[in-house]
Amino acid sequence: MKPITVLVSVDSNSVLLGARHFLNYLRDLVYDHNLGDVVEILETGSMGVYPEGVIVSILPDNVFYLVKTEEDVRTIFEEHILKGRRASRLLLDEGKVKSSVEIERLTQETRVVLKNVGEIDPTDIEEYIARDGYFALAKALQMRPEEVIEEVKKSGLRGRGGAGFPTGLKWEFTAKAKSDQKYVLCNADEGEPGTFKDRLIMEGDPHSLIEGMVIAGYAVGATKGYIYIRGEYYGSIEILKKAIEQAYEYGFLGENILGSGFSFDLKVRLGAGAYVAGEETALIESIEGKPAKPRLKPPYPPTYGLFGKPTVVNNVETFVNVPRIILNGADWFRSFGTPSSPGTKVFSLVGNVVRKGIVEVPMGTTVRDLVFRFGGGVEKGRQLKMVQTGGSAGTFIGPDKLDVPLDFDSYGKYGVSIGSGVILVIDDIHCAVDLALTVMQFFEHESCGKCTPCREGTRMAVDILTRISRGQGREEDLELLREIAKNAGEASFCGMGQSVPVPLLSILDNFEEEFRAHIGAERCPVGVCEFVRTSKKLKVK
Ligand SMILES: Cc1cc2nc3c(=O)[nH]c(=O)nc-3n(C[C@H](O)[C@H](O)[C@H](O)COP(=O)(O)O)c2cc1C
Ligand code: SF4
Repeated sequence: MKPITVLVSVDSNSVLLGARHFLNYLRDLVYDHNLGDVVEILETGSMGVYPEGVIVSILPDNVFYLVKTEEDVRTIFEEHILKGRRASRLLLDEGKVKSSVEIERLTQETRVVLKNVGEIDPTDIEEYIARDGYFALAKALQMRPEEVIEEVKKSGLRGRGGAGFPTGLKWEFTAKAKSDQKYVLCNADEGEPGTFKDRLIMEGDPHSLIEGMVIAGYAVGATKGYIYIRGEYYGSIEILKKAIEQAYEYGFLGENILGSGFSFDLKVRLGAGAYVAGEETALIESIEGKPAKPRLKPPYPPTYGLFGKPTVVNNVETFVNVPRIILNGADWFRSFGTPSSPGTKVFSLVGNVVRKGIVEVPMGTTVRDLVFRFGGGVEKGRQLKMVQTGGSAGTFIGPDKLDVPLDFDSYGKYGVSIGSGVILVIDDIHCAVDLALTVMQFFEHESCGKCTPCREGTRMAVDILTRISRGQGREEDLELLREIAKNAGEASFCGMGQSVPVPLLSILDNFEEEFRAHIGAERCPVGVCEFVRTSKKLKVK
């Protein structure tokens, strides 16, 4: 029997679908049949957007299966592993995708950030090294720090945490700040509802993040780094801690890295799950041991950050792009995406979409492609009503904006935000008022209370939307909501309150008629939910 490697996707989504159980079951079968010497079973990260089951791939045949039950595992074992023939019933995409496909072709993605995710065992540093891992660090250490920054600037890389600030410029500000101590922080708080791309990146390829952070440290002259990650991300935390341990063991962290004279220490810090803790200055306060409340800006972190020292704060995806840029060059990176937003973007597809999960595409990909080509369209054959792009702080758009290419300019140009890369698909059984209420309840709950326009504005918005949803709205309510949104946007202390108008105004503008129709109505006028005057909870018939 020829040696076989079986890769089982055990990212968080797959774990919820039974991946660990399937993995153990498969291991038992292999053990019971004394095949341990020829069949290797490895855990790997997310292979893409297939929410209905766990992806299992078999090498060297390059066959991909979708597993939903223990019975499926047994079938693959008996058919493919024992008898050497395809278990055609379980082939991914009903067999339309056959063998000899790499992940990239399988999903038609452009995998730059996710190039290792779903391909390697994230707990094994040697697998990472075998795929050019830490080569970029070795290369960067041979360059002068300012050359590294220049390359990142030339690449046009912009922060993937939402604001799209040019990364090279941020690093340059930090490098130029004079200080005895500087820091590099990774923002892995990922509090935006619907976003889970950072989690899957860290679970599938933790060493790329570590490598990107060490390169950043070298470029700006920082010797200490922290990954600030939300405490609920147990899987990522465990994998990251192990990866850090291995990186120390292999000399990619610690003293005198690769004999360069440069030293860098990296630790993990856990957040307690507040949305605002993802705001960079609140994150810094939290690492310092204080409540996660934003600081007044300026000064910005590159001059006054952690413990008052110059600090780089970047998102997970931003850092993971860095080794790719250093290794392949800025021009290569610019060959993806749009001139003002080069590179790719990892999107989280959620809501009423057929295939949920993460997908990596070039910047400038349209919303339509994300929803229909990669996501497979609206589930249960329903109609698309709207899409919320960019997370809870993002825009609600109707089907008329499906052809907008998403990048960091799409908000300014077309009123469609990219934010943290959430694509929340909403079908026609949802009510715009109820959605607006849900989003504002989130903002009200997460407001840290430091400033009035955010604290009181979100509370008032919730009150008004609640009464509209109960049919007790007043004519002037829509104007009032617009005023609240405007005040929060203009007068709030931090980016959280400042972003209130983005979802609120976009849903009001796109669905004003639906809001008006609720005023004085006995029941939900959309006719699909039953909450007016009875309950504010959406009940689908
Ligand atoms: C309320 C709020 C929450 C945020 N949450 C996150 C987050 O979870 N992850 C993140 O990378 N950036 C988040 N940001 C953006 C950060 O403040 C910061 O811009 C980012 O970490 C910088 O990294 P980048 O330049 O690589 O995008 C948030 C901002 C605000 C206002
Ligand atoms: S806008 Fe004000 S109240 Fe809202 S989270 Fe920021 S600092 Fe806190």
